[in-house]
Amino acid sequence: MRKPLIAGNWKMNGSLALLETMKQALTSANIASGVDVAIIPPFTLLMSAKGVLAESSLSLGAQTLHPESSGAYTGEISADMLTECGVSHVLVGHSERRTLFGEDDQAVLARIRAALDAGLTPILCIGETLEEREADRVETVVLGQVKTVIDDLSAEQRSRLVMAYEPVWAIGTGRTATPEQAQQVHAMIRAWLSDKDPALGEGMRLLYGGSMKADNAAELLSQPDIDGGLIGGASLKPDDFIAICHAAG
Ligand code: 13P
Repeated sequence: MRKPLIAGNWKMNGSLALLETMKQALTSANIASGVDVAIIPPFTLLMSAKGVLAESSLSLGAQTLHPESSGAYTGEISADMLTECGVSHVLVGHSERRTLFGEDDQAVLARIRAALDAGLTPILCIGETLEEREADRVETVVLGQVKTVIDDLSAEQRSRLVMAYEPVWAIGTGRTATPEQAQQVHAMIRAWLSDKDPALGEGMRLLYGGSMKADNAAELLSQPDIDGGLIGGASLKPDDFIAICHAAG
């Protein structure tokens, strides 16, 4: 059985006040113990979040990391620095990193390796653009992104990954993939992983991301190959985020 994970990616939003409000709201919401919940705030809130979330069952994530462990990389943050902030999860290859900051598949792979080496759980983000979907290239693009990472890792490393399918055209647009569209891609990814190693396919947590909201979460999360959500906009609103967590339980 794969335990669902609901992760809130705050992107470049939020504040210490929101962090405290969110923690209070989540801890009094009685989220089912069968659901993992992670908050992924900006770097500047991580050290405070370590204290705010201590003694709670909430996990802390970061939005990216640099592949090197230290050095002259002005403005960057390493895996060890994240660990010191109490971070357990880190997003890698989010489409905004790929498109706005030029991270290609090799850059994504280097970050995945750095995260795994530091004992962090990477959440590998994958997904096609609208243009790629319309050109019937979903399988080529998505499996290409998966393959670059999976083929380079040992079985033990692969087993520590989480993946998030986020169709680029559904991110922040209010245009969600239908449950059928999302399930179809998730099933395709799982079949590819199972072909490589049945235990890998069976165990991989595949999250869906892209305009997941309180009113569409239950239907998406009830799909057999969707094991949770990576939530953007709705993760900034405590009531909405809690409703999504409840839908997973
Ligand atoms: P939205 O939920 O705002 O569409 O963002 C999804 C996302 O990019 C999460 O990483």
